[in-house]
Amino acid sequence: ATRVPAPTPVKRPLVFAHRGSSVAEPEHTLTAYLRAIEEGADGVECDVRLTRDGQLVCVHDRRLERTSNGQGLVSTRTLAELGELDFGSWHPGPGEDDDLVYDVTADGRARVLTLDRLLTAVHEANRPMRLLIETKHPSRYGPAVEEKVVEALRRYGVHEPRRGHPVEVSVMSFSALAVRRTRRLAPLLPTVMLMDLLPAGLRGGRLPFGSRVGGPGVRLLRAHPELVQRLHDRGHQVYVWTVNEAADVDLMIELGVEGVISDRPGFVRRRLDEL
Ligand code: G3P
Ligand code: CA
Repeated sequence: ATRVPAPTPVKRPLVFAHRGSSVAEPEHTLTAYLRAIEEGADGVECDVRLTRDGQLVCVHDRRLERTSNGQGLVSTRTLAELGELDFGSWHPGPGEDDDLVYDVTADGRARVLTLDRLLTAVHEANRPMRLLIETKHPSRYGPAVEEKVVEALRRYGVHEPRRGHPVEVSVMSFSALAVRRTRRLAPLLPTVMLMDLLPAGLRGGRLPFGSRVGGPGVRLLRAHPELVQRLHDRGHQVYVWTVNEAADVDLMIELGVEGVISDRPGFVRRRLDEL
């Protein structure tokens, strides 16, 4: 009898929600993250910044204007002051499911999200969840952000991978200095080296400071798809940001990357499920 060849297994990349499900909901709000979990994301991504009183909040920009009704630098406000602002009303509209609204004040304001609250949310998902925390460019005045991040992760017992633990955290950055600081503070904490340009240093060796994962932007990969193979050849995994279009999802499958980071995690999940 003719043997029917087994179908080629399709390797499905992990889907990470970039700033939460951030097309449907205002980025970096609890609602955006809970929607991502509901949409079946394998993990979520967030950016962190320090407030004036040393609290970690999930905000992308240095300034408040784009994603809140406040003005000025995030770093000049206390957490209580940020709590007075609305991080939701700038967003163009409600998501597909209007009743998914969390952490909103009585007068309808979406609260700033703290890293602690996000850590609680990913633990409450009650299924395996991954969290990618991006520290922006490090401060010249010392490793404050990295220290606070590692401190928070230690409180939740997720500063290093633990067999059988449902929450797996990685810290990522475009800055090799930030990666080095993080690994000094928590040597077993996985790190992702983000890149928006071809990494010159990769020619000879591996990614700096023990990062297992390289994180190129999708535009870089469209121009240099061979970078995936170069990273794989050196034993690295590849997580790509920000993959929002069907053609890019298909390209990521073709290239065999291990993770895609998307503003539309539900859409990407459905596209991958179709394959
Ligand atoms: O996931 C990495 C990606 O978030 C880096 O760019 O500007 O969206 O933080 P940005
Ligand atoms: Ca980011």
